[in-house]
Amino acid sequence: MLLGTQRIDAAGHLEIGGCDTVALATEFGTPLYVVDETLVRENCRRYAAVFAARYPGESRVSYAGKAFLVQAIARIVEQEGLDIDVASGGELHTVLTAGFPANRVLYHGNYKSDEEIAMGLDAGVGRFVVDNPHELRRLSAAAAARGKVQSILLRVTPGIDPHTHRRIRTGQEDSKFGVNISDGSAMAVLLEAKNLPGICLEGVHCHVGSQLHDAASHIDAIDVMVGLMAAYAKETGAPLRELDMGGGLGVRYLPTHQPPTYEAFADSLCSALEAAFARHGIEPPVLLQEPGRCLVAEAGTTLYTTGPAKTVGIPEEPGTRTYVAVDGGMSDNPRPQLYDAVYSCLVANRAGQPKDRVATIAGKHCETDILIWNTPVGEIRDGDILAVQTTGAYNHAMASNYNRFRRPAVVLVRDGQADVVYERESWDDVIRQDRIPDRLG
Ligand code: LLP
Repeated sequence: MLLGTQRIDAAGHLEIGGCDTVALATEFGTPLYVVDETLVRENCRRYAAVFAARYPGESRVSYAGKAFLVQAIARIVEQEGLDIDVASGGELHTVLTAGFPANRVLYHGNYKSDEEIAMGLDAGVGRFVVDNPHELRRLSAAAAARGKVQSILLRVTPGIDPHTHRRIRTGQEDSKFGVNISDGSAMAVLLEAKNLPGICLEGVHCHVGSQLHDAASHIDAIDVMVGLMAAYAKETGAPLRELDMGGGLGVRYLPTHQPPTYEAFADSLCSALEAAFARHGIEPPVLLQEPGRCLVAEAGTTLYTTGPAKTVGIPEEPGTRTYVAVDGGMSDNPRPQLYDAVYSCLVANRAGQPKDRVATIAGKHCETDILIWNTPVGEIRDGDILAVQTTGAYNHAMASNYNRFRRPAVVLVRDGQADVVYERESWDDVIRQDRIPDRLG
């Protein structure tokens, strides 16, 4: 499975963006996140283009920054003409300081603090995605106090239960996010929003779940969402202008994973949308989407250096297991621990070798910390460079300093050029926030 610009060069090394990954590991150290700029740009462009070509009205795409956000990524997203979705004051600060236009920012979060509400209002973000009536009223008061009118979408829960890991399901009614539709709460909050000072209600938002391998949940949600928009138009005589269907399209972590292509996904969503508009008798609103993972995941590869290995006897077939330790783990990729996430890997310095042996890739944290169980990888020797694929989404973004590890560097590669876009943390960074009170001597 070679993704994006990944190639195997004449020396048998894995190359990404025209850069030899073995040379990258030497130059920048490991663990190292390598990001394929060409693939990120292509994905942004293609996702927007396939929907623009199929959707009967205006279609806008916001990159969900929670998947992977550093200032350079905000720049790329801006240059590719996408909007951006932020989910916290920290993400908002990141994109604004990168020069991202505030009016193209969608501001999420189920509990925005007063400080975060003020940051969004003062910056002039394009849309607040309001999660609940508590936020709606606080936002209305804060906007009115500034003499501003803030455009909003209301996040609603369509009551869809997607088939994905329970920790990344969000569209079902039993969720902390959004206002339920089926019990009438969503309509009540929409009607309240319509009349509140400082608020301009533009539309409704939902996000059904993440890493979805088909469009079934989106299609179910579309009918519910369009039904809600039609009911609102009937009740008020004033149609909502925008429908945001969130993100969620899955990616390939293993060669056997086959998520829909952007084209197939867009075909499914757009035909379901057109059918729902016809059924409910409404004009196509502006379609908004917030893909995160499917724009960046396959563009990311993590390079590690391999170290100690050991083989133990196990009761089940094949009777032994070989553990190979790498110089990172759950601090740079917590997804295996959190979601039983699976990954594929290859030896970057012998990338063409047959994958005729299985190993279990262990991290170096003081925990079980297994990155990949029983993965076909071929021979691994001490000091090899191991490349774990599809780490572009929710890896750097969820990295921690657990066990006081330094977060790895991120390099952006393209056409043979490699630039650091996130510096490797130093040992002093690890203690930077520590204070020893005088009374401790
Ligand atoms: N919009 C909203 C409101 C969301 O909550 C999310 C993801 C997205 C968009 C982007 O979804 P995507 O296209 O990336 O599936 N940490 C988890 C994923 C959490 C996703 C949370 N929300 C993981 O590592 O799998």
